[in-house]
Amino acid sequence: MSISTETVKQLGREYAHEDEDHIASKMVNEFEAQVTRMYKGRKMLRQVHTKMHGCVKATFSVEPNLPDELKVGVFAGKAKDYHAWVRFSNGNTVPEKDKKKDIRGVAIKLLGVPGEKILEDEIHAKTQDFLLMSSETFFAKTLKELSSLLNSMTSPNPIKSNLFILNPSLWPILGRAIKRKVACKNPLAIPYWSTQPYQFGKINQAVKYHLRPNPDNVIVVENTTDENYLRYNLAQTLYNHEAKFDFFVQFQTDPDAMPIEDPTVPWTSQNIKVATLTIHPQIFDSNEQLEFGDNLSFNPWHSLPEHRPLGAFNRVRKRVYEVMSKFRHAKNKLPDVEPKDSDDFLKDIRKAKSQVILDQQIPEKNIIFTTAEVTVNCDKKKAYEFVSSVEKLPTWLLRTGPIYGIIKVTKLRGCWAKVGDNRLVERGDSATLVEELISVNHYSNYAYQTTEFSDIFKHFTNKTYGHMWFDTVDDQTRLRWVYTFTYKNLVARAILWIFSKLFLKKYLQNGLNNAKSYLEE
Ligand code: HEM
Repeated sequence: MSISTETVKQLGREYAHEDEDHIASKMVNEFEAQVTRMYKGRKMLRQVHTKMHGCVKATFSVEPNLPDELKVGVFAGKAKDYHAWVRFSNGNTVPEKDKKKDIRGVAIKLLGVPGEKILEDEIHAKTQDFLLMSSETFFAKTLKELSSLLNSMTSPNPIKSNLFILNPSLWPILGRAIKRKVACKNPLAIPYWSTQPYQFGKINQAVKYHLRPNPDNVIVVENTTDENYLRYNLAQTLYNHEAKFDFFVQFQTDPDAMPIEDPTVPWTSQNIKVATLTIHPQIFDSNEQLEFGDNLSFNPWHSLPEHRPLGAFNRVRKRVYEVMSKFRHAKNKLPDVEPKDSDDFLKDIRKAKSQVILDQQIPEKNIIFTTAEVTVNCDKKKAYEFVSSVEKLPTWLLRTGPIYGIIKVTKLRGCWAKVGDNRLVERGDSATLVEELISVNHYSNYAYQTTEFSDIFKHFTNKTYGHMWFDTVDDQTRLRWVYTFTYKNLVARAILWIFSKLFLKKYLQNGLNNAKSYLEE
Protein backbone atom coordinates (compact mmCIF):
# COMPACT_ATOMS: atom_id res chain seq x y z
CA MET A 1 0.00 0.00 0.00
CA SER A 2 1.33 3.43 -0.88
CA ILE A 3 1.87 6.02 1.81
CA SER A 4 0.58 9.45 0.95
CA THR A 5 1.30 12.99 2.05
CA GLU A 6 -1.83 14.45 0.38
CA THR A 7 -3.97 16.73 2.49
CA VAL A 8 -7.34 15.51 1.17
CA LYS A 9 -7.64 12.12 2.78
CA GLN A 10 -8.64 9.00 0.90
CA LEU A 11 -10.15 5.71 2.00
CA GLY A 12 -7.64 3.04 3.00
CA ARG A 13 -4.69 5.40 2.59
CA GLU A 14 -1.83 5.70 5.11
CA TYR A 15 -0.18 9.00 6.05
CA ALA A 16 3.27 8.31 7.51
CA HIS A 17 5.58 10.56 9.52
CA GLU A 18 9.25 10.61 8.71
CA ASP A 19 10.46 9.85 12.26
CA GLU A 20 8.66 6.47 12.51
CA ASP A 21 11.79 4.37 11.91
CA HIS A 22 13.60 6.27 14.61
CA ILE A 23 10.70 5.72 17.06
CA ALA A 24 10.59 1.99 16.25
CA SER A 25 14.35 1.63 16.89
CA LYS A 26 14.09 3.52 20.15
CA MET A 27 11.19 1.33 21.34
CA VAL A 28 13.03 -1.86 20.45
CA ASN A 29 16.16 -0.73 22.32
CA GLU A 30 14.17 0.24 25.40
CA PHE A 31 12.13 -2.98 25.37
CA GLU A 32 15.21 -5.17 24.95
CA ALA A 33 16.98 -3.42 27.82
CA GLN A 34 13.88 -3.71 30.02
CA VAL A 35 13.25 -7.45 29.48
CA THR A 36 16.97 -8.17 29.85
CA ARG A 37 16.86 -6.51 33.30
CA MET A 38 13.58 -8.19 34.24
CA TYR A 39 14.45 -11.75 33.24
CA LYS A 40 18.06 -12.03 34.35
CA GLY A 41 18.86 -15.71 34.88
CA ARG A 42 15.36 -16.98 34.05
CA LYS A 43 13.13 -17.63 31.08
CA MET A 44 12.31 -14.44 29.19
CA LEU A 45 8.63 -13.69 28.69
CA ARG A 46 6.89 -11.14 26.46
CA GLN A 47 7.48 -7.44 27.10
CA VAL A 48 3.71 -6.87 27.25
CA HIS A 49 0.72 -9.21 27.44
CA THR A 50 3.02 -11.24 29.62
CA LYS A 51 0.47 -13.03 31.77
CA MET A 52 -1.32 -15.72 29.81
CA HIS A 53 -4.60 -17.23 31.00
CA GLY A 54 -4.50 -20.00 28.44
CA CYS A 55 -3.57 -20.89 24.90
CA VAL A 56 -6.52 -22.87 23.60
CA LYS A 57 -7.61 -24.74 20.50
CA ALA A 58 -10.34 -23.31 18.34
CA THR A 59 -11.99 -23.46 14.94
CA PHE A 60 -12.39 -20.27 12.91
CA SER A 61 -15.33 -20.87 10.57
CA VAL A 62 -15.78 -18.45 7.70
CA GLU A 63 -19.45 -17.57 7.24
CA PRO A 64 -21.14 -19.47 4.44
CA ASN A 65 -22.60 -17.44 1.57
CA LEU A 66 -20.54 -14.31 2.07
CA PRO A 67 -21.20 -11.78 -0.72
CA ASP A 68 -18.38 -11.54 -3.28
CA GLU A 69 -17.07 -8.24 -1.91
CA LEU A 70 -16.33 -9.93 1.43
CA LYS A 71 -14.59 -12.92 -0.10
CA VAL A 72 -11.12 -11.63 0.54
CA GLY A 73 -7.94 -13.28 1.91
CA VAL A 74 -8.84 -15.94 4.48
CA PHE A 75 -12.52 -15.24 3.79
CA ALA A 76 -12.16 -15.97 0.04
CA GLY A 77 -13.35 -19.07 -1.79
CA LYS A 78 -15.75 -21.54 -0.27
CA ALA A 79 -16.63 -21.22 3.42
CA LYS A 80 -13.81 -22.89 5.31
CA ASP A 81 -12.99 -24.01 8.84
CA TYR A 82 -9.47 -23.11 9.99
CA HIS A 83 -7.83 -24.67 13.02
CA ALA A 84 -6.59 -21.93 15.33
CA TRP A 85 -4.60 -21.28 18.49
CA VAL A 86 -6.07 -18.57 20.71
CA ARG A 87 -4.01 -16.97 23.47
CA PHE A 88 -5.78 -14.95 26.19
CA SER A 89 -3.66 -12.49 28.18
CA ASN A 90 -3.50 -9.49 30.49
CA GLY A 91 -1.80 -6.52 28.88
CA ASN A 92 0.54 -5.41 31.65
CA THR A 93 4.31 -5.90 31.45
CA VAL A 94 4.50 -7.12 35.03
CA PRO A 95 2.01 -9.91 35.78
CA GLU A 96 -0.54 -8.60 38.27
CA LYS A 97 -3.47 -10.09 40.16
CA ASP A 98 -6.35 -10.67 37.74
CA LYS A 99 -8.64 -8.56 39.92
CA LYS A 100 -6.70 -5.45 38.97
CA LYS A 101 -8.22 -3.67 35.97
CA ASP A 102 -6.12 -4.13 32.86
CA ILE A 103 -6.26 -4.14 29.08
CA ARG A 104 -7.05 -7.77 28.20
CA GLY A 105 -5.74 -9.30 25.00
CA VAL A 106 -6.69 -12.06 22.65
CA ALA A 107 -4.39 -13.30 19.90
CA ILE A 108 -5.74 -15.66 17.24
CA LYS A 109 -3.49 -17.66 14.96
CA LEU A 110 -5.16 -19.40 12.02
CA LEU A 111 -3.29 -22.48 10.79
CA GLY A 112 -3.04 -23.93 7.30
CA VAL A 113 -3.56 -20.61 5.53
CA PRO A 114 -2.26 -20.91 1.97
CA GLY A 115 -0.56 -18.08 0.03
CA GLU A 116 2.57 -15.98 0.43
CA LYS A 117 2.72 -13.85 3.58
CA ILE A 118 4.00 -10.33 4.05
CA LEU A 119 7.10 -10.90 6.20
CA GLU A 120 10.13 -11.79 4.11
CA ASP A 121 11.49 -14.22 6.70
CA GLU A 122 8.16 -15.99 6.94
CA ILE A 123 6.89 -15.68 3.42
CA HIS A 124 5.95 -19.38 3.28
CA ALA A 125 4.47 -19.56 6.78
CA LYS A 126 0.94 -20.96 6.80
CA THR A 127 -0.44 -18.72 9.53
CA GLN A 128 -2.60 -15.61 9.73
CA ASP A 129 -2.75 -13.74 13.05
CA PHE A 130 -5.41 -11.39 14.43
CA LEU A 131 -4.54 -9.43 17.60
CA LEU A 132 -7.28 -7.73 19.55
CA MET A 133 -7.71 -6.02 22.89
CA SER A 134 -10.58 -5.32 25.27
CA SER A 135 -11.14 -1.69 24.28
CA GLU A 136 -12.72 -0.36 21.12
CA THR A 137 -10.08 2.30 20.65
CA PHE A 138 -6.35 2.55 21.38
CA PHE A 139 -5.06 4.78 24.18
CA ALA A 140 -2.31 6.54 22.19
CA LYS A 141 -3.20 9.18 19.60
CA THR A 142 0.26 9.53 18.05
CA LEU A 143 3.44 7.48 18.02
CA LYS A 144 5.31 10.37 19.59
CA GLU A 145 2.92 10.38 22.53
CA LEU A 146 3.24 6.59 22.98
CA SER A 147 7.00 6.76 22.68
CA SER A 148 7.32 9.35 25.48
CA LEU A 149 5.15 7.22 27.77
CA LEU A 150 7.10 4.03 27.03
CA ASN A 151 10.39 5.85 27.43
CA SER A 152 9.43 6.68 31.03
CA MET A 153 7.79 3.34 31.84
CA THR A 154 10.71 1.24 30.60
CA SER A 155 13.42 3.45 32.10
CA PRO A 156 16.08 1.76 34.28
CA ASN A 157 15.91 4.81 36.53
CA PRO A 158 13.36 3.87 39.22
CA ILE A 159 12.50 7.52 39.88
CA LYS A 160 11.61 8.00 36.20
CA SER A 161 9.77 4.69 35.83
CA ASN A 162 7.76 5.08 39.04
CA LEU A 163 7.06 8.81 39.03
CA PHE A 164 6.12 9.32 35.37
CA ILE A 165 2.55 9.83 36.58
CA LEU A 166 3.67 13.21 37.88
CA ASN A 167 4.66 14.40 34.41
CA PRO A 168 1.76 16.59 33.14
CA SER A 169 2.69 16.06 29.48
CA LEU A 170 1.79 12.38 29.91
CA TRP A 171 -1.57 12.96 31.57
CA PRO A 172 -3.71 12.87 28.39
CA ILE A 173 -2.36 9.47 27.28
CA LEU A 174 -2.36 8.14 30.84
CA GLY A 175 -5.97 9.23 31.25
CA ARG A 176 -6.93 7.39 28.08
CA ALA A 177 -4.95 4.29 29.09
CA ILE A 178 -6.64 4.11 32.51
CA LYS A 179 -10.10 4.47 30.92
CA ARG A 180 -9.40 1.48 28.68
CA LYS A 181 -8.56 -0.92 31.49
CA VAL A 182 -11.42 -3.29 32.29
CA ALA A 183 -12.41 -5.66 35.05
CA CYS A 184 -12.98 -9.18 33.79
CA LYS A 185 -14.53 -12.32 35.31
CA ASN A 186 -13.76 -14.66 32.44
CA PRO A 187 -11.87 -13.96 29.19
CA LEU A 188 -14.67 -15.76 27.31
CA ALA A 189 -17.22 -13.20 28.45
CA ILE A 190 -15.86 -9.90 27.12
CA PRO A 191 -15.65 -8.31 23.64
CA TYR A 192 -12.37 -7.44 21.88
CA TRP A 193 -11.39 -5.01 19.11
CA SER A 194 -8.35 -4.63 16.83
CA THR A 195 -8.37 -0.84 17.47
CA GLN A 196 -6.02 -0.56 14.46
CA PRO A 197 -7.09 -0.77 10.81
CA TYR A 198 -6.21 -3.43 8.23
CA GLN A 199 -6.44 -3.50 4.47
CA PHE A 200 -9.33 -5.59 3.17
CA GLY A 201 -8.35 -6.88 -0.25
CA LYS A 202 -8.35 -3.81 -2.43
CA ILE A 203 -5.91 -0.99 -1.80
CA ASN A 204 -8.62 1.55 -0.98
CA GLN A 205 -10.47 -0.61 1.54
CA ALA A 206 -9.74 -0.71 5.24
CA VAL A 207 -11.47 -2.52 8.11
CA LYS A 208 -11.12 -2.93 11.84
CA TYR A 209 -11.82 -6.29 13.51
CA HIS A 210 -14.18 -7.00 16.37
CA LEU A 211 -14.76 -10.19 18.34
CA ARG A 212 -17.96 -10.49 20.37
CA PRO A 213 -18.88 -13.37 22.71
CA ASN A 214 -22.10 -15.19 21.92
CA PRO A 215 -24.65 -14.31 24.64
CA ASP A 216 -25.65 -18.00 24.88
CA ASN A 217 -22.19 -19.08 26.05
CA VAL A 218 -22.19 -20.81 29.42
CA ILE A 219 -19.67 -18.92 31.54
CA VAL A 220 -18.43 -20.56 34.73
CA VAL A 221 -17.01 -18.28 37.40
CA GLU A 222 -15.37 -20.20 40.21
CA ASN A 223 -14.28 -17.00 41.92
CA THR A 224 -12.96 -13.52 41.29
CA THR A 225 -10.54 -13.36 44.17
CA ASP A 226 -7.63 -15.67 43.38
CA GLU A 227 -4.51 -14.10 41.92
CA ASN A 228 -4.97 -16.13 38.71
CA TYR A 229 -8.73 -16.59 38.70
CA LEU A 230 -9.02 -15.89 34.97
CA ARG A 231 -7.17 -19.12 34.19
CA TYR A 232 -9.30 -21.14 36.64
CA ASN A 233 -12.54 -19.66 35.31
CA LEU A 234 -11.43 -20.31 31.72
CA ALA A 235 -10.46 -23.91 32.56
CA GLN A 236 -13.66 -24.59 34.52
CA THR A 237 -15.75 -23.24 31.63
CA LEU A 238 -13.94 -25.08 28.84
CA TYR A 239 -13.94 -28.36 30.75
CA ASN A 240 -17.49 -29.13 29.63
CA HIS A 241 -18.56 -26.22 27.46
CA GLU A 242 -17.58 -24.62 24.19
CA ALA A 243 -17.53 -20.86 23.77
CA LYS A 244 -18.39 -19.08 20.57
CA PHE A 245 -17.41 -15.61 19.42
CA ASP A 246 -18.68 -13.73 16.36
CA PHE A 247 -15.88 -12.18 14.29
CA PHE A 248 -16.78 -8.93 12.49
CA VAL A 249 -15.19 -6.53 10.05
CA GLN A 250 -16.06 -2.84 10.19
CA PHE A 251 -15.35 -0.86 7.01
CA GLN A 252 -13.88 2.60 6.89
CA THR A 253 -16.57 4.58 5.10
CA ASP A 254 -15.28 8.12 5.69
CA PRO A 255 -11.52 8.89 5.65
CA ASP A 256 -11.85 11.92 7.96
CA ALA A 257 -14.44 10.77 10.47
CA MET A 258 -12.87 7.27 10.62
CA PRO A 259 -9.16 7.96 10.38
CA ILE A 260 -6.46 5.36 9.64
CA GLU A 261 -3.77 7.16 11.60
CA ASP A 262 -5.58 8.06 14.84
CA PRO A 263 -6.81 4.91 16.63
CA THR A 264 -8.35 6.87 19.53
CA VAL A 265 -11.29 7.68 17.22
CA PRO A 266 -14.02 5.02 17.15
CA TRP A 267 -15.36 4.08 13.73
CA THR A 268 -19.11 4.33 13.47
CA SER A 269 -19.92 2.10 10.50
CA GLN A 270 -21.74 -1.19 10.86
CA ASN A 271 -20.04 -4.42 12.04
CA ILE A 272 -20.44 -7.24 9.51
CA LYS A 273 -20.10 -10.81 10.69
CA VAL A 274 -17.62 -12.79 8.57
CA ALA A 275 -16.70 -15.74 10.80
CA THR A 276 -17.40 -17.65 14.00
CA LEU A 277 -14.62 -18.53 16.42
CA THR A 278 -15.49 -21.67 18.37
CA ILE A 279 -13.31 -22.46 21.34
CA HIS A 280 -13.80 -26.13 22.00
CA PRO A 281 -14.24 -27.89 25.34
CA GLN A 282 -10.73 -28.89 26.35
CA ILE A 283 -8.08 -29.16 29.03
CA PHE A 284 -5.35 -26.64 28.29
CA ASP A 285 -3.68 -25.97 31.63
CA SER A 286 -0.88 -28.53 31.71
CA ASN A 287 2.54 -26.94 32.19
CA GLU A 288 3.52 -28.24 28.75
CA GLN A 289 0.69 -26.44 26.95
CA LEU A 290 1.15 -23.24 28.96
CA GLU A 291 4.80 -23.28 27.95
CA PHE A 292 3.82 -23.84 24.33
CA GLY A 293 1.60 -20.73 24.47
CA ASP A 294 4.38 -18.67 26.02
CA ASN A 295 6.75 -19.76 23.26
CA LEU A 296 4.48 -18.78 20.36
CA SER A 297 4.89 -15.51 18.47
CA PHE A 298 1.80 -13.56 17.56
CA ASN A 299 2.30 -10.64 15.20
CA PRO A 300 -0.25 -8.63 13.18
CA TRP A 301 2.23 -8.86 10.29
CA HIS A 302 1.93 -12.67 10.20
CA SER A 303 -0.53 -11.96 7.45
CA LEU A 304 -1.62 -12.33 3.87
CA PRO A 305 -1.07 -9.11 1.87
CA GLU A 306 -4.87 -8.84 1.54
CA HIS A 307 -5.06 -8.19 5.32
CA ARG A 308 -2.02 -5.89 5.51
CA PRO A 309 -1.82 -3.93 8.80
CA LEU A 310 -2.35 -0.17 8.33
CA GLY A 311 -1.64 2.99 10.30
CA ALA A 312 1.25 4.40 12.31
CA PHE A 313 1.04 1.97 15.22
CA ASN A 314 0.88 -1.06 12.96
CA ARG A 315 3.86 0.20 10.94
CA VAL A 316 5.92 0.43 14.12
CA ARG A 317 4.63 -2.93 15.34
CA LYS A 318 6.15 -4.56 12.26
CA ARG A 319 9.64 -3.90 13.52
CA VAL A 320 8.86 -4.24 17.24
CA TYR A 321 7.09 -7.63 17.19
CA GLU A 322 9.58 -9.25 14.81
CA VAL A 323 12.65 -8.10 16.71
CA MET A 324 11.19 -8.76 20.17
CA SER A 325 10.04 -12.25 19.31
CA LYS A 326 13.46 -13.12 17.84
CA PHE A 327 15.19 -11.61 20.87
CA ARG A 328 13.01 -13.57 23.31
CA HIS A 329 13.45 -16.85 21.46
CA ALA A 330 17.22 -16.39 21.08
CA LYS A 331 17.60 -15.66 24.81
CA ASN A 332 15.52 -18.75 25.65
CA LYS A 333 17.46 -20.81 23.08
CA LEU A 334 14.22 -21.80 21.38
CA PRO A 335 13.40 -21.89 17.67
CA ASP A 336 11.15 -19.02 16.54
CA VAL A 337 8.95 -20.90 14.10
CA GLU A 338 5.29 -20.83 13.24
CA PRO A 339 3.22 -23.84 14.38
CA LYS A 340 1.90 -26.24 11.76
CA ASP A 341 -1.62 -27.42 11.09
CA SER A 342 -2.44 -31.12 11.29
CA ASP A 343 -5.42 -33.33 10.53
CA ASP A 344 -5.56 -34.50 14.14
CA PHE A 345 -5.32 -30.97 15.61
CA LEU A 346 -8.65 -31.44 17.40
CA LYS A 347 -8.02 -35.02 18.54
CA ASP A 348 -7.92 -34.21 22.27
CA ILE A 349 -10.99 -31.98 22.26
CA ARG A 350 -13.59 -33.00 24.86
CA LYS A 351 -17.27 -33.52 24.19
CA ALA A 352 -19.47 -30.60 25.13
CA LYS A 353 -21.88 -31.52 27.92
CA SER A 354 -24.77 -32.76 25.81
CA GLN A 355 -27.50 -32.75 28.41
CA VAL A 356 -28.28 -29.29 29.65
CA ILE A 357 -29.23 -29.58 33.29
CA LEU A 358 -30.76 -26.60 34.95
CA ASP A 359 -28.40 -26.66 37.90
CA GLN A 360 -29.71 -24.96 40.97
CA GLN A 361 -27.84 -21.75 41.61
CA ILE A 362 -26.05 -21.13 44.87
CA PRO A 363 -27.25 -17.73 46.12
CA GLU A 364 -24.72 -14.91 45.97
CA LYS A 365 -26.49 -12.45 48.26
CA ASN A 366 -27.50 -12.63 51.92
CA ILE A 367 -25.09 -15.44 52.62
CA ILE A 368 -21.99 -16.19 54.66
CA PHE A 369 -19.32 -18.15 52.90
CA THR A 370 -16.17 -19.87 54.07
CA THR A 371 -13.40 -21.34 51.95
CA ALA A 372 -10.56 -23.79 52.43
CA GLU A 373 -8.08 -25.05 49.90
CA VAL A 374 -5.19 -27.40 49.49
CA THR A 375 -2.92 -28.45 46.62
CA VAL A 376 -2.49 -32.16 46.16
CA ASN A 377 0.15 -33.97 44.16
CA CYS A 378 -2.20 -36.14 42.08
CA ASP A 379 -4.43 -35.72 39.05
CA LYS A 380 -7.96 -34.31 39.16
CA LYS A 381 -9.65 -37.65 38.55
CA LYS A 382 -8.05 -39.28 41.56
CA ALA A 383 -8.74 -36.25 43.77
CA TYR A 384 -12.36 -36.00 42.61
CA GLU A 385 -13.07 -39.69 43.11
CA PHE A 386 -11.64 -39.66 46.62
CA VAL A 387 -13.25 -36.46 47.87
CA SER A 388 -16.68 -37.16 46.37
CA SER A 389 -16.74 -40.77 47.58
CA VAL A 390 -19.56 -41.57 50.01
CA GLU A 391 -17.50 -44.33 51.62
CA LYS A 392 -14.35 -42.27 52.08
CA LEU A 393 -15.97 -39.19 53.69
CA PRO A 394 -15.74 -40.52 57.30
CA THR A 395 -12.01 -41.18 56.82
CA TRP A 396 -11.03 -37.57 56.17
CA LEU A 397 -13.71 -35.21 57.52
CA LEU A 398 -12.72 -35.58 61.19
CA ARG A 399 -13.53 -33.76 64.41
CA THR A 400 -11.94 -30.35 64.60
CA GLY A 401 -12.62 -28.22 67.71
CA PRO A 402 -16.29 -28.41 68.63
CA ILE A 403 -17.41 -29.75 65.22
CA TYR A 404 -17.68 -33.51 65.19
CA GLY A 405 -16.40 -35.60 62.31
CA ILE A 406 -18.55 -37.71 59.98
CA ILE A 407 -19.09 -41.24 61.22
CA LYS A 408 -21.66 -42.60 58.77
CA VAL A 409 -23.03 -41.73 55.32
CA THR A 410 -26.08 -43.49 53.87
CA LYS A 411 -27.14 -43.15 50.25
CA LEU A 412 -30.83 -42.28 50.10
CA ARG A 413 -31.40 -41.70 46.39
CA GLY A 414 -28.95 -42.67 43.62
CA CYS A 415 -25.20 -43.25 43.96
CA TRP A 416 -24.09 -39.69 44.72
CA ALA A 417 -23.01 -39.24 41.12
CA LYS A 418 -25.66 -37.10 39.41
CA VAL A 419 -27.85 -34.11 40.11
CA GLY A 420 -30.70 -35.08 42.46
CA ASP A 421 -28.81 -37.90 44.23
CA ASN A 422 -28.87 -37.44 47.99
CA ARG A 423 -27.40 -38.92 51.15
CA LEU A 424 -27.90 -38.85 54.93
CA VAL A 425 -24.80 -37.72 56.79
CA GLU A 426 -24.33 -38.49 60.49
CA ARG A 427 -21.76 -36.81 62.72
CA GLY A 428 -20.03 -38.11 65.86
CA ASP A 429 -22.47 -36.17 68.10
CA SER A 430 -25.37 -38.06 66.42
CA ALA A 431 -26.51 -34.93 64.56
CA THR A 432 -27.75 -35.64 61.02
CA LEU A 433 -28.35 -33.70 57.84
CA VAL A 434 -29.31 -34.45 54.24
CA GLU A 435 -27.07 -33.47 51.32
CA GLU A 436 -28.29 -33.38 47.70
CA LEU A 437 -26.18 -32.92 44.58
CA ILE A 438 -27.27 -29.82 42.64
CA SER A 439 -24.49 -29.62 40.06
CA VAL A 440 -22.04 -32.21 38.77
CA ASN A 441 -19.11 -31.73 36.39
CA HIS A 442 -17.09 -34.87 36.86
CA TYR A 443 -13.44 -34.27 37.81
CA SER A 444 -13.91 -30.51 37.60
CA ASN A 445 -16.40 -29.42 40.25
CA TYR A 446 -19.58 -30.42 42.05
CA ALA A 447 -22.03 -28.70 44.35
CA TYR A 448 -24.58 -29.87 46.91
CA GLN A 449 -27.21 -28.37 49.17
CA THR A 450 -27.71 -29.36 52.79
CA THR A 451 -31.10 -29.43 54.52
CA GLU A 452 -32.94 -31.18 57.38
CA PHE A 453 -30.44 -30.34 60.10
CA SER A 454 -31.31 -32.25 63.25
CA ASP A 455 -29.25 -30.04 65.57
CA ILE A 456 -29.19 -26.40 66.61
CA PHE A 457 -28.45 -25.24 63.06
CA LYS A 458 -32.09 -25.75 62.11
CA HIS A 459 -32.84 -22.55 64.07
CA PHE A 460 -30.36 -20.47 62.07
CA THR A 461 -30.56 -21.72 58.48
CA ASN A 462 -32.87 -23.59 56.13
CA LYS A 463 -30.20 -24.48 53.63
CA THR A 464 -26.45 -24.47 53.24
CA TYR A 465 -24.37 -25.23 50.15
CA GLY A 466 -21.00 -26.81 49.50
CA HIS A 467 -19.07 -26.38 46.27
CA MET A 468 -15.92 -28.38 45.64
CA TRP A 469 -13.66 -27.14 42.85
CA PHE A 470 -10.77 -29.05 41.27
CA ASP A 471 -8.21 -26.88 39.46
CA THR A 472 -4.88 -27.71 37.87
CA VAL A 473 -2.01 -25.69 39.29
CA ASP A 474 1.49 -26.55 38.17
CA ASP A 475 0.45 -30.05 37.10
CA GLN A 476 -1.04 -30.70 40.55
CA THR A 477 -4.65 -30.52 41.72
CA ARG A 478 -5.93 -27.70 43.86
CA LEU A 479 -9.04 -28.55 45.89
CA ARG A 480 -11.09 -25.55 46.84
CA TRP A 481 -14.09 -25.97 49.11
CA VAL A 482 -16.59 -23.14 49.35
CA TYR A 483 -19.21 -23.53 52.06
CA THR A 484 -22.20 -21.17 51.98
CA PHE A 485 -24.76 -20.51 54.72
CA THR A 486 -28.08 -18.85 54.11
CA TYR A 487 -29.47 -17.38 57.33
CA LYS A 488 -32.96 -16.99 58.77
CA ASN A 489 -32.54 -13.60 60.43
CA LEU A 490 -29.98 -11.09 61.61
CA VAL A 491 -29.24 -12.88 64.89
CA ALA A 492 -28.66 -16.12 62.96
CA ARG A 493 -26.42 -14.20 60.61
CA ALA A 494 -24.22 -12.97 63.49
CA ILE A 495 -24.02 -16.42 65.07
CA LEU A 496 -23.20 -18.17 61.79
CA TRP A 497 -20.61 -15.55 60.94
CA ILE A 498 -18.80 -16.09 64.27
CA PHE A 499 -19.14 -19.87 63.92
CA SER A 500 -17.70 -19.79 60.41
CA LYS A 501 -14.73 -17.65 61.36
CA LEU A 502 -13.91 -19.48 64.61
CA PHE A 503 -14.62 -23.11 63.78
CA LEU A 504 -15.91 -23.98 60.31
CA LYS A 505 -12.92 -22.74 58.34
CA LYS A 506 -10.58 -24.87 60.48
CA TYR A 507 -12.91 -27.87 60.13
CA LEU A 508 -12.96 -27.64 56.32
CA GLN A 509 -9.23 -26.99 56.13
CA ASN A 510 -8.41 -29.90 58.43
CA GLY A 511 -10.63 -32.15 56.30
CA LEU A 512 -8.85 -31.13 53.10
CA ASN A 513 -5.44 -31.58 54.73
CA ASN A 514 -6.45 -35.12 55.74
CA ALA A 515 -7.67 -35.83 52.21
CA LYS A 516 -4.33 -34.62 50.88
CA SER A 517 -2.47 -37.02 53.17
CA TYR A 518 -4.55 -39.95 51.94
CA LEU A 519 -4.21 -38.94 48.30
CA GLU A 520 -0.45 -38.53 48.49
CA GLU A 521 0.14 -41.70 50.50
C1 HEM B 1 2.65 0.61 18.78
C2 HEM B 1 1.80 -0.05 19.54
C3 HEM B 1 2.13 -1.39 20.12
C4 HEM B 1 3.34 -1.87 20.56
C5 HEM B 1 4.67 -1.15 20.60
C6 HEM B 1 3.12 -3.24 20.99
C7 HEM B 1 4.08 -4.08 21.48
C8 HEM B 1 3.92 -5.42 21.75
C9 HEM B 1 4.98 -6.34 22.08
C10 HEM B 1 6.46 -5.98 22.20
C11 HEM B 1 4.42 -7.55 22.27
C12 HEM B 1 5.14 -8.85 22.65
C13 HEM B 1 5.60 -9.54 21.38
C14 HEM B 1 6.45 -10.76 21.63
O1 HEM B 1 7.37 -10.73 22.43
O2 HEM B 1 6.17 -11.79 20.97
C15 HEM B 1 3.00 -7.41 22.08
C16 HEM B 1 2.10 -8.40 22.22
C17 HEM B 1 0.75 -8.22 22.05
N1 HEM B 1 0.11 -7.09 21.60
FE1 HEM B 1 0.96 -5.34 21.17
N2 HEM B 1 1.79 -3.53 20.83
C18 HEM B 1 1.16 -2.43 20.29
C19 HEM B 1 -0.15 -2.31 19.95
C20 HEM B 1 -1.07 -3.31 20.14
C21 HEM B 1 -2.45 -3.25 19.73
C22 HEM B 1 -3.10 -2.06 19.05
C23 HEM B 1 -3.03 -4.45 20.07
C24 HEM B 1 -4.43 -4.94 19.88
C25 HEM B 1 -5.45 -4.26 19.59
C26 HEM B 1 -2.00 -5.26 20.66
C27 HEM B 1 -2.21 -6.53 21.14
C28 HEM B 1 -1.23 -7.37 21.55
C29 HEM B 1 -1.48 -8.70 22.02
C30 HEM B 1 -2.84 -9.39 22.13
C31 HEM B 1 -0.24 -9.24 22.32
C32 HEM B 1 0.03 -10.63 22.87
C33 HEM B 1 0.26 -11.54 21.73
C34 HEM B 1 0.45 -12.92 22.25
O3 HEM B 1 -0.50 -13.45 22.86
O4 HEM B 1 1.54 -13.47 22.03
N3 HEM B 1 -0.84 -4.55 20.69
N4 HEM B 1 2.72 -6.10 21.75
